[in-house]
Amino acid sequence: MKHYDIIGGERLTGNVDISGTKNAAVAIIAAALAVDGVCYIDNIPEVGDVTTIMEILTCLGALITRVAPNAYSIDCRDVKPDAVARVELYGKCRASYYALGALLGRFGEAIVATPGGCDFGYGSSGRPIDQHIKGFEALGADVEHSGGWIRAVNNGKKLRGNRIYMDVVSVGATINTILAAVFAEGTTIIENAALEPHVVDLANFLNKMGAAVRGAGSSTIRVYGVDRLVGGDYSILPDQIEAGTYLCMAAATGGKITVRNVVPRHLYCITSKLSDMGVRIEENGDCVTASSARKRLRSTNVKTAPYPGFPTDMQPQITTLLCIADGTGKVTEAVWDNRFQYLEQLQNMGAIVSQSGRDAVIEGSAKLTGAPIIATDLRAGAAMVIAGLAAEGVTRISDVWEIERGYEDIVEKLRRLGANITIHNDIEVVETSDIAGGGSRAEGGAA
Ligand code: EPU
Repeated sequence: MKHYDIIGGERLTGNVDISGTKNAAVAIIAAALAVDGVCYIDNIPEVGDVTTIMEILTCLGALITRVAPNAYSIDCRDVKPDAVARVELYGKCRASYYALGALLGRFGEAIVATPGGCDFGYGSSGRPIDQHIKGFEALGADVEHSGGWIRAVNNGKKLRGNRIYMDVVSVGATINTILAAVFAEGTTIIENAALEPHVVDLANFLNKMGAAVRGAGSSTIRVYGVDRLVGGDYSILPDQIEAGTYLCMAAATGGKITVRNVVPRHLYCITSKLSDMGVRIEENGDCVTASSARKRLRSTNVKTAPYPGFPTDMQPQITTLLCIADGTGKVTEAVWDNRFQYLEQLQNMGAIVSQSGRDAVIEGSAKLTGAPIIATDLRAGAAMVIAGLAAEGVTRISDVWEIERGYEDIVEKLRRLGANITIHNDIEVVETSDIAGGGSRAEGGAA
């Protein structure tokens, strides 16, 4: 177990290269299970969730080779229909359920253990997967979800294309249904599909491998069944959420950060809110700069929504900014039942926040003070880093494995921007540090 110590108050300035999208990478790597050839995939972020999904594929019989930093070849030609990975791996990564869609589509049968996932208010029942099941069943599969396993079968036969209306806009169900439909006979039409950039990235990957997925990025996606995916090369899109997180760090520290290698239009939903808060945003080719040069931030209201709305995966980060902005702001979490578990950590640092159901009210102008805090999940962990950078004194963040599930090289990237952040393992803490630890939880969970 590791923790970070951040001494706040440094103005962050400079450039940061944004990595590939974690949530696209985990889908695309799983999608390689459907490919009867070798995939060369570049711009893969080297983060915890990617390691987990690669371990799952390896257990299933894939041959994965790191050919260069952030570039891998994945060969799934020897994967068998009845392949199953170690149970605990499925529980470590939400995206493990993409193996179900990919293998069901390719072999007409598949089994995975119930995926884990950050608990965004669903308790022991876990985050729902009813729309995934609806998609598979519409394509002709029988799906059984019991005893910690999900099994989808169509007697080893090809699925049949169908029209599927998703009752909720779901990234995961859209991706899983596309994966299952790639080889289905005829045409599959997915209505009310998710529009997120990583859904488009997954579709582009599949098309490059020989699939016929049309309309990704709109709410109606058509999948024309093909006989085989043949392999090829692909480069993953830059991470909208990682980029947005660094832009918030510029705002939080009165600094100036340029995120490089981004798709600026994927960031509009984030940068427009930062502009509302008084942050100067400049766009130049594939770079976006946020500067707030010691100006006071203004409060605003934020409501999360599926893309192109304000991303739920940026909600903890913007809430943290609102803590130090002038005025009162309201944040409404409209995607997940409860994604405010981290508010208590901010309160420990002096934030004045209250929650009522899906709304949080943030009284601004708080003077944040360093404290021992916990990364309660991936994006909450990123928000704690933002809080630590803006706070006076030392902030110790424990359970940073959550952060490292999704942010590549965050400590090095921050140091290059001028942050005073150090990484320690917990044995060193006991022996060398006089700062009280913040407690920790067992590793697990997933985005
Ligand atoms: N939903 C259902 N039924 C389903 C599936 C989803 O009711 O069968 C509901 C969920 O309860 C939620 C909403 O639909 O209220 C959206 O869920 P979605 O399926 O879109 O989420 P996901 O695919 O499980 C991905 C990301 C999350 C991100 C959400 C929303 C991955 C691996 N995870 O999750 O990322 O919050 O989309 O954009 O792609 C993160 O990166 O920190 C993270 C949590």
